[in-house]
Amino acid sequence: MPTVYFIDADGNQFEAEADSGTNVMEAAVDNFIDGIVGECGGVLSCATCHCYVDEKWQAKLDPPSEQEEDMLDMAVEPKDNSRLSCQIELTDELDGLVVHLPKTQF
Ligand code: FES
Repeated sequence: MPTVYFIDADGNQFEAEADSGTNVMEAAVDNFIDGIVGECGGVLSCATCHCYVDEKWQAKLDPPSEQEEDMLDMAVEPKDNSRLSCQIELTDELDGLVVHLPKTQF
């Protein structure tokens, strides 16, 4: 069961365990992590699951799809390491994943 570490804009760290096959947005929402909203439930139509993937983990993730790239344009303050957390499927290889939370989703 992978553990994801969420670090908020103030540097506070929260951890969440989630089953492989779920995604980072679900891990956050199911564990009441503030900062990930996931308004559309993971169907790539809201960008309220925006996060910044820690640099050490970026190479371990598949690149975003074109549709995800388009939705990231709707995110608040997107950066090079921005991802939509609903599109990051958790696997055992991602145990320990670190993502940073934006200051706001709106
Ligand atoms: Fe809506 Fe990820 S939850 S795009």
